[in-house]
Amino acid sequence: MKKIGLFWGSETGNTEQAAGLIAEAIGYDYVDSYNIRDVTADTLTGYDALIIGTSTWGAGELQDDWYNFYGNLELLDFGGKTVAFFGLGDQLSYGDYYLDAMGILYEKFIERGAKVTGSWPVEGYEYSYSKAVLQGSFIGLALDADNQDHLTQSRIQRWVAGIKPVLL
Ligand SMILES: Cc1cc2nc3c(=O)[nH]c(=O)nc-3n(C[C@H](O)[C@H](O)[C@H](O)COP(=O)(O)O)c2cc1C
Repeated sequence: MKKIGLFWGSETGNTEQAAGLIAEAIGYDYVDSYNIRDVTADTLTGYDALIIGTSTWGAGELQDDWYNFYGNLELLDFGGKTVAFFGLGDQLSYGDYYLDAMGILYEKFIERGAKVTGSWPVEGYEYSYSKAVLQGSFIGLALDADNQDHLTQSRIQRWVAGIKPVLL
């Protein structure tokens, strides 16, 4: 059976929790979930369908474990692979950098040949600027556990319904 590789990096557990909900929504049988801290590049490239999750830290910077992994991405070939992204950030406190890390990872995966699916509308969010917005949409699922946690579950359900048939 074809499986999706879900790779996430999380500082305080919010992205980890969202990854769990995403795996549950897709169905555990179809997903292998990994903390990016614990894997090597080979594990990542072992999948043709990927879901990549990160929070944003500093002022628009990668989560630490993605920061440490980032050099690997430079060397990888994602040709023929389909990738969906999700990001966690705080749109009110960091409105000039909301979900920037998701945008940074997106840029690199595109550069290395990935095909990306799972864009998400910007309606319903309050932020000034985001590297994760391209042509008027988030390039992946935008989550905010700090301000809109009550929407996380329904957003995930809706997003997964769209990406699941594309990734599997
Ligand atoms: C010091 C600090 C810096 C942050 N910087 C950003 C930022 O630049 N952009 C953003 O969208 N969120 C930012 N956040 C919010 C976190 O990304 C958010 O709380 C997220 O849910 C954390 O997820 P994690 O626990 O999986 O790491 C920041 C939070 C803190 C405490």
